[in-house]
Amino acid sequence: MRFTTMLLRAALLLQSILADQVLGVASLDDSTRARCPSGWQIQRELGPRLSEKAAVAVPSSSDWDRLMVRAAAPRISPRFMASVEVATEKDVQETIKYANHIGVPFLVVSGGHGQPTTLNNLHCGIQINMRKMNDTTVSKDGKTATGGGGVMQHEIVASLFKQGKMAVTGLCECVSLAGPLLGGGHSMLQGRYGFSADNLVSARLVLANGSAVTASAAENPDLFWAIRGAGHNFGVATSLQVKVYDATQNWTMIIFTFTQDKLERFFNTWNRVEDENDDHGTIVLNGHMGRDPDIDSVHPVIGLAIFFKGQNNVIGAYTSAFLALGPVSHTTVTDIPYGDLYDTGGMGTDGLVCRDDHNILGYPSSFPRWDADAMRAGFALFSEFTGSEKFATSAWLLESYGRKGVETVPEDSNAVSPEDRRYHLLTSPMLWWAGDDEQDRARAMSFGKRMQTAVRRNSKTPPHAYVNYAFGGEPLPEVYGRDGARLARLKRLKAEYDPHNRFGFYVPIR
Ligand SMILES: Cc1cc2nc3c(=O)[nH]c(=O)nc-3n(C[C@H](O)[C@H](O)[C@H](O)COP(=O)(O)OP(=O)(O)OC[C@H]3O[C@@H](n4cnc5c(N)ncnc54)[C@H](O)[C@@H]3O)c2cc1C
Ligand SMILES: *[C@@H]1O[C@H](CO)[C@@H](O)[C@H](O)[C@H]1NC(C)=O
Ligand SMILES: *[C@@H]1O[C@H](CO)[C@@H](O)[C@H](O)[C@H]1NC(C)=O
Ligand SMILES: *[C@@H]1O[C@H](CO)[C@@H](O)[C@H](O)[C@H]1NC(C)=O
Repeated sequence: MRFTTMLLRAALLLQSILADQVLGVASLDDSTRARCPSGWQIQRELGPRLSEKAAVAVPSSSDWDRLMVRAAAPRISPRFMASVEVATEKDVQETIKYANHIGVPFLVVSGGHGQPTTLNNLHCGIQINMRKMNDTTVSKDGKTATGGGGVMQHEIVASLFKQGKMAVTGLCECVSLAGPLLGGGHSMLQGRYGFSADNLVSARLVLANGSAVTASAAENPDLFWAIRGAGHNFGVATSLQVKVYDATQNWTMIIFTFTQDKLERFFNTWNRVEDENDDHGTIVLNGHMGRDPDIDSVHPVIGLAIFFKGQNNVIGAYTSAFLALGPVSHTTVTDIPYGDLYDTGGMGTDGLVCRDDHNILGYPSSFPRWDADAMRAGFALFSEFTGSEKFATSAWLLESYGRKGVETVPEDSNAVSPEDRRYHLLTSPMLWWAGDDEQDRARAMSFGKRMQTAVRRNSKTPPHAYVNYAFGGEPLPEVYGRDGARLARLKRLKAEYDPHNRFGFYVPIR
């Protein structure tokens, strides 16, 4: 571990030297370059340039702890000298111009659920906290809504539902609108409407040099292409205009629990029902493997929640197929208004998945079909790993949010990788534990990697990791797609819009 820390330090030093060279900031003399600016200095110099509602916090401020809360801490701990709670687009511009001027890095924080390890490369930075920019406005024609750059999923869902509308967001209420969307965005609605990113109509962005632009099909179309899939690399989204749909129909949730001896039949059944129902509307299969000692004190169990909207023609085929496996339990909840769906589904802000201060660590893979033998091999490792009390709340995600809606969007229409459209099964051991013990971390990393290797071992498709679940050390083609021309386009746009890699902490394109 010490060796890794040394490497990290060396990388940081190199990065700051390079940043200084390329930025060529005139006012930066050798003495300022050598040290971190104090939070006080930032507060004193930047504060007066900001709008009335903005605020600059320093480590001794009473708000500091609240602003530093992260889901995957302490594993993910970007190091900030100051936090700027921006309230307007101009605040974002001023903050970036100031950071460029004094030669320090910055990082945007909205929901605080980002987890790639590359976030830890931020050192001596300014946090651009977006949470004050959390309004949602529905357009006059009722076809789109504009959400602030820091609006949380639970806020936009509630605001829209009051007006009988819904947007394609993520599934967990504790993430922002922007965070998932900029990387694609898996959602309850994707079976019909595509990824969150596919539903973006336009965005206001503050670029690395502090200028603010609109990105849409009509304005800066190249940038618009890039931010829908690789958006964390290109700018700060101060607002996002997205398509909205009527949210009049209620939802149903069916929950099954199986013991692990059913594992092979479980995955084969899943494959079969999906083979037989290419277009299943808004049926969402959201499964997970995890510990439930009341049911099985030795091994994790397999849970599957099926959600669907309104009446569904093929739901009967799904429920009867899984019932035939003999679940330990199954429960049906009907009449769930869209506004309550996430809370009822266990994905609300108070849900276990939304807890903060746990070292979330994921090793994602996407597949077109389940390989039951490979899942069994991964399960054996997961069972061993979660047998220890410390890691017992880890969950292995098994997700199929719907194919038709994402497949009908042409692959070249935006920067969401074709792999994300083609391989609809998204799975990842999500290792959850608390504390900063280095041995725990090493153990989690070792098991996580082995679980990923196990489930990928016979795969006919090349390894793919969804950017928003990425660990942060994956080769770029594994995340952004293997098509060389597409990657070259992304790199060219990155060089054009962010030549000094200022947005270089979230799965950076370099
Ligand atoms: C419990 C949990 C549930 C999840 N559920 C889903 C899900 O349902 N669907 C899904 O697709 N993914 C999901 N994810 C993954 C999720 O997409 C990413 O973790 C995402 O980065 C979270 O965004 P955030 O704003 O909450 O986190 P943050 O850490 O605040 O943001 C993550 C990164 O996004 C960028 N960013 C944030 N706001 C802006 C902005 N306004 N402009 C520009 N860049 C910005 C920054 O680079 C930042 O580092 C989940 C993750 C967790 C831990
Ligand atoms: C915006 O955030 C504040 C602070 O969390 C909250 O009180 C307010 O209700 C939010 N606004 C909306 C529209 O959700
Ligand atoms: C949706 O469910 C609620 C109860 O949760 C019920 O009051 C309402 O009538 C239902 N709406 C429809 C369209 O079925
Ligand atoms: C900022 O960067 C954009 C994109 O590269 C460029 O078009 C614009 O001219 C730059 N603005 C300034 C003031 O340099």
